Amino acid sequence: MLTRLFDLAPPLLSLLPPEQAHEATLKSLELGLFPRAPADHPSLASRFAGLALPNPIGIAAGFDKDARAADAVLGLGCGFAEIGTVTPRPQAGNPQPRVFRLPEDRAVINRLGFNNGGHKAAHERLQARRGRGGVIGVNIGANKDSDDRIADYVSGLGTFYDVASYFTVNISSPNTPGLRDLQAPEALDALLTRLMAARAQLTDAGGPKRPIVVKLSPDIAEADLPAIVARLVAHAIDGIAVSNTTLSRAGLSDPAAREAGGLSGRPLFHRSTAMLARVYQATGGKIPLIGIGGIDSGAAALAKIRAGATLIQLYTGLIYQGPGLIGRLKEHLIEAVRGAKASTISDLIGLDAETWAEEALYE
Ligand code: FNR
Repeated sequence: MLTRLFDLAPPLLSLLPPEQAHEATLKSLELGLFPRAPADHPSLASRFAGLALPNPIGIAAGFDKDARAADAVLGLGCGFAEIGTVTPRPQAGNPQPRVFRLPEDRAVINRLGFNNGGHKAAHERLQARRGRGGVIGVNIGANKDSDDRIADYVSGLGTFYDVASYFTVNISSPNTPGLRDLQAPEALDALLTRLMAARAQLTDAGGPKRPIVVKLSPDIAEADLPAIVARLVAHAIDGIAVSNTTLSRAGLSDPAAREAGGLSGRPLFHRSTAMLARVYQATGGKIPLIGIGGIDSGAAALAKIRAGATLIQLYTGLIYQGPGLIGRLKEHLIEAVRGAKASTISDLIGLDAETWAEEALYE
């Protein structure tokens, strides 16, 4: 009954402005009004940087910025949840409207600008759910007006170290001016040196070694990618997430394409997957990857894994299809494991990386 109700949610929610629709979704999750997914098929069991997950599918950062619904996200059938992006101090983000649907392109443009309630509020929520288990990543960022952005990331690591299963370092949002400059090799060196030193202090003090993942932009120029990946490898990063939203507007037909901000959804699929495969090849498959961008079908989810992703995340696909999509992705992946006569989904990681890495990175 509740499952069927949720199939109706996308058309009903599409009648509301995007941010109100999102708030209604989060409210219903907070209230526990969502269908519980059954236990996962063993062939979906996954490992990522030492973490064990029941399946490789997660909802991408930005959906639950303030950690209001982490357990509900797991309850919907996700193998893990990622909260954030959180910044040290609360911030309002850009003026509304700042999220736009592009139904003709099955895409979304957002220029939220890290609206969030700050570290303290999110940390309290995650502390309150401690002991409930599940893999919960914390996506950390910097305040817009910070004069030491690296210090903001270090602060995120320290604040959430007791509650995060892993961290994602978001240096790829296009909506905080200058943030993506942290992807330049020298800036990346400075950032990762301080972050790794901060983690070493925490582990020296007896804490566990929490994985650190760096999330990249799909707009990195092809020629710049090898140097960036080399820096990530040199700092022994635990995982790489590919990708965040794009500033590209190539191939769009919806009139809302003129809005400023980061584009997500179907038009992002090709470029983000071609980039994922390049990163997989550049790292020799040794660093686990999270594949993100335009997953809206079982075939797209499988393609990300075959291109090199150990885990996958999605957001825009859920806006158009609702949470029933998660179950459909799983069915497709289980069938793919069976069809390949493999034992788990991880046997399929990177099988098509070579082909995908040859795909052009269109604008
Ligand atoms: C995002 N995304 C995002 N990413 C991130 O690292 N921190 C964030 O706070 C946000 N916020 C955010 C808000 C909205 C409304 C959207 C649509 C997206 C990017 C997201 O995590 C993901 O990388 C992209 O959306 C690509 O995946 P999909 O949406 O194509 O599946």
